[in-house]
This record gives sequence, structure tokens and C-alpha cells, in this order.
Amino acid sequence: MTAYTLITGATSGIGLALAHEFARRGDALLLVARRAEALADTAATLRAQHGVEVLERVCDLADSASVSALIAGIERDSLRVARLINNAGFATAGAFVDQSWQAERDLLMVNVLSLTQLCHAIGGQMARAGGGHILNVASITGFMPGPWMSNYAASKSFVIILSESLREELAERGVKVSVLCPGTTRSPFFAKANIAIEKAAPDKLIMSPEEVARITVAAMERNPAIIVPKWRNKLLAIAPRLGPRWLLRKVVASLHKSVVA
Ligand SMILES: NC(=O)c1ccc[n+]([C@@H]2O[C@H](COP(=O)([O-])OP(=O)(O)OC[C@H]3O[C@@H](n4cnc5c(N)ncnc54)[C@H](OP(=O)(O)O)[C@@H]3O)[C@@H](O)[C@H]2O)c1
Repeated sequence: MTAYTLITGATSGIGLALAHEFARRGDALLLVARRAEALADTAATLRAQHGVEVLERVCDLADSASVSALIAGIERDSLRVARLINNAGFATAGAFVDQSWQAERDLLMVNVLSLTQLCHAIGGQMARAGGGHILNVASITGFMPGPWMSNYAASKSFVIILSESLREELAERGVKVSVLCPGTTRSPFFAKANIAIEKAAPDKLIMSPEEVARITVAAMERNPAIIVPKWRNKLLAIAPRLGPRWLLRKVVASLHKSVVA
């Protein structure tokens, strides 16, 4: 029975790079995203470049009926998922109360609820099978309060805590859980959120999605709880523990305010 690596948000940025990295290792892929055409192009490229089986599932992770249909389809087709990569996500930037509620609600649906539902459904399948690996994509932003990206920072904080907690529960059932916390990574993520990436970090500190994917897939072999690619991001991840919380809030607020385009 084929064991698939399911990747959400595989049409762009980190998800696309992860798809190439897993395909390079010969994994059969089950790719999920909203844009059917981009998904078909991605799948065709992966099949041609790596000779692997690629299944496509169009799904809007902001829509609960669409997520339930995705899960029902996986069960109906008896697809075995060996690795679940919950990567899809997006940010809103600016004052929380000035954003549309629809955008903030969609953010929670994609970054939190759908990710959690997939952990529940596929994690359950893995637990019954006695093995599997879940990788949830959070962010170093999840280690600190994030004024002017408040809902995004809170959503990523949720993902870190959920992942660490499930890791302990599911270890007893043979299922591994890791959480990836990238720093600034060059992708369409910033333009979609109206953030000027060139102001977010100096050019040489911005990682490429390919580098993040290489480090992540290699690290997964060792089953770490938390993957923070590159030493400078590791420093940013522990920095919030070193100073007073009020100072952290002020520093992050001023940084975020300056990068909102
Ligand atoms: N870039 C960074 O600096 C950075 C840093 C830390 C963490 N992250 C996290 O890394 C993950 C990937 O980000 P990225 O930088 O690669 O962003 P990206 O280039 O914008 O890619 C986002 C992916 O998610 C999919 N997606 C978005 N909304 C969706 C929805 N409603 N339903 C289904 N799929 C959806 C998109 O596909 P479709 O448009 O086809 O649906 C796309 O494939 C996110 O969780 C992000 O929060 C990014």
C-alpha cells in the first residue's frame, strides 16, 4: 500500500520547496492547495523531475466543508498518509481591529482550525496504524507577542503548543510530531500580507524556501520536537526568554509597525 506524504500549501514558497525535497527522496505525494491550476502545474513538474506519484486535492482550508470533504475523500479512497505536513498558512498585518473580520476568521481557519482538524483525522489514522510523522509549520513569531500581526502571532503560538503537546500524547502510539519554526523566508507570503520584505530583515538574513526545506527534511530524520532553521533564528527563538516581557512587546511592536507596507 502506497504511503503518501501529504503537504498542504504545496503550490508556493516553503510548501513547494518541501514537496520537491520529499520527492527527491522518492516519496509519493498528496498535495493540497486552493488554486487548481497551480496545483496541477506543481504536480506535473514534480512527476517530470522526480518520477514520483503525485495526487492533487483542491481544498480551501478556510472553508470547513472543504476540509471535511478532503478528509472524507482520503478515508473513502483508503489513502495511507505516512507524513502529514501542515504547511499552509498566511498572515494579516496592521491593526487587528482595522482588518476585516472575514480575513481574521479565515486566518484562524487556515492556520489553526484546519491544521488541528487534520492532526485529529490523520493523526488518528496514524495512531491506529502505529506510525507516522506530523510536521506542523509555525514560525519564530509564535515564541513572542506580535503587535500589528496579533492574530498571526497567536495562531503560530497555538501551533507550537499543540504540536509539543500532541508529540507527548502520540509518542505512546508510535506517531512522531515536530513543529517547524522558520524565520524570514523569501516567498509570496509577504506581498500577500502587504508586508515589505526588504524592511522585515536584511537581505542576507532572509532564507530561501529551498534551504528551509533541505534543513527541515534532513532534521525530520532525527525526530526533533522543534525545528528552527539556522543559528540566527534559534537566537531569535530564545531571545524572548532573556529579557522582560514589556520590553519584548515594545521591540516587536516597533519592528512590525515599521514593516507594514
Ligand atoms: N515566509 C516566511 O517568512 C515564513 C516565516 C515563518 C513561517 N512561515 C509559515 O510557512 C508556511 C508557508 O508560508 P510561505 O512563506 O511558503 O507562504 P506562501 O508562499 O504564501 O504559500 C502559502 C501556501 O498556502 C496555501 N494556502 C493559503 N491559503 C490557503 C487556503 N485557504 N486553502 C488551501 N491552501 C492555502 C497557498 O496555496 P493556494 O494559494 O494555491 O491555496 C500556498 O501554497 C505558512 O504557514 C507561514 O505562516 C512563513
